[in-house]
Amino acid sequence: MCTIITFNHILRNRGVIIFARKSFSTVREQVKMVKAKRFVVQKHFQGEPKTTDLKLVQEDIPPLHNGEYLVEAEYLSVDPYMRPYVQRYPEGITMIGSQVAKIIESRNPEYPVGKRIVGYLGWRTHTVVNPQISSSSDDTFAFEKPYILPDIGDLSPSLFLGVLGMPGNTAYFGFLEICQPKQGETLVISGAAGAVGSHVGQIAKNVCGLTVIGIAGSDEKCKWLVDELGFDHAINYKKGDIATSLRVAAPKGVDCYFDNVGGDISSVVLYQMKPFGRVSVCGSISSYNADASSLPKTAIIQPTMVFNQLKMEGFIVHRWMSRMSEGVEKNLQWIKEGKLRYRETVTNGFENMFDAFVGMLNGKNIGKAIVKV
Ligand SMILES: NC(=O)c1ccc[n+]([C@@H]2O[C@H](COP(=O)([O-])OP(=O)(O)OC[C@H]3O[C@@H](n4cnc5c(N)ncnc54)[C@H](OP(=O)(O)O)[C@@H]3O)[C@@H](O)[C@H]2O)c1
Repeated sequence: MCTIITFNHILRNRGVIIFARKSFSTVREQVKMVKAKRFVVQKHFQGEPKTTDLKLVQEDIPPLHNGEYLVEAEYLSVDPYMRPYVQRYPEGITMIGSQVAKIIESRNPEYPVGKRIVGYLGWRTHTVVNPQISSSSDDTFAFEKPYILPDIGDLSPSLFLGVLGMPGNTAYFGFLEICQPKQGETLVISGAAGAVGSHVGQIAKNVCGLTVIGIAGSDEKCKWLVDELGFDHAINYKKGDIATSLRVAAPKGVDCYFDNVGGDISSVVLYQMKPFGRVSVCGSISSYNADASSLPKTAIIQPTMVFNQLKMEGFIVHRWMSRMSEGVEKNLQWIKEGKLRYRETVTNGFENMFDAFVGMLNGKNIGKAIVKV
């Protein structure tokens, strides 16, 4: 097993709770009224998201009450989970998502002006946060509470949406805990050039000593994986036959599969696994735009599961919520040691959130897709 040693936790202030206040009644002490922009879900997505499904609205931010602080978004994340998860909520909510934001006004000494937080505040430019309120409002998707960013020196705070945030922890825990990798084994990753996939491959290669094969959707992505990140092989799933390419890249078979995409790609990989192989099912992006009542069909997987005695386990990263700071800390350490490289695909302008989101779903990103306000 690839053993990871942990160091002192760097994250503090994790007990903070978000509250997107709806009351607009109190008198603002500040002279200038802050205008916030936010994207409202007008209509649940059907198939590929359409611009008309979301609506950009503007509203006044109310004056702060004692204990509250006001943040302004600097970087927002666009992630695949948003596509299936938002369907669980009623139309009319603020589009879900996380952001790095700066405190621009405060009536809480623990959250001084100038500090940055990361939080699930939704697609909005300005948010009032009340750390004392124990429940989130209905337009806030907050499975992780906002917290003040620790000092990471010259590194961009946007990394807390990617390599030092939820995707980084997904790679860290989802790979190490479920694949239980051993030095010398062979790993295949689908969705390999994205935020999670590119991260998993580097932990596997540079920390655990595995042979790493990535599957991604363009020659440019494959070249990046091999030339820049040190993957042993990369397969463009849009070109040629994946089964044949994989047999060449892994002639003795596959020990671990980190699955970001599901569907036909995954069925092909599963049929090339070695006995007692382990499969970490992280995502299924090939099906996210599909109607839940008529999901795409793919090759039956039970024969290879049985005859190769495979172990397949799905996970949600919040399973390891109590260990989040461990993952952040290890990922930061590996960045500093040069074992973990990252790339961001940045879209400029809050108004372009939708384009960044759909672009990411369609594979326009290399590494983490983010929006800079
Ligand atoms: N379980 C968890 O807790 C957890 C947490 C975070 C993320 N995830 C999952 O992990 C996966 C990757 O997330 P991420 O944030 O790192 O996103 P990402 O990989 O940075 O971006 C999504 C990528 O998916 C690929 N893709 C889109 N449609 C595809 C299809 N039909 N077949 C194959 N690939 C397709 C595209 O790359 P190509 O150009 O290669 O097609 C696109 O760039 C997603 O499935 C996500 O839901 C799970």
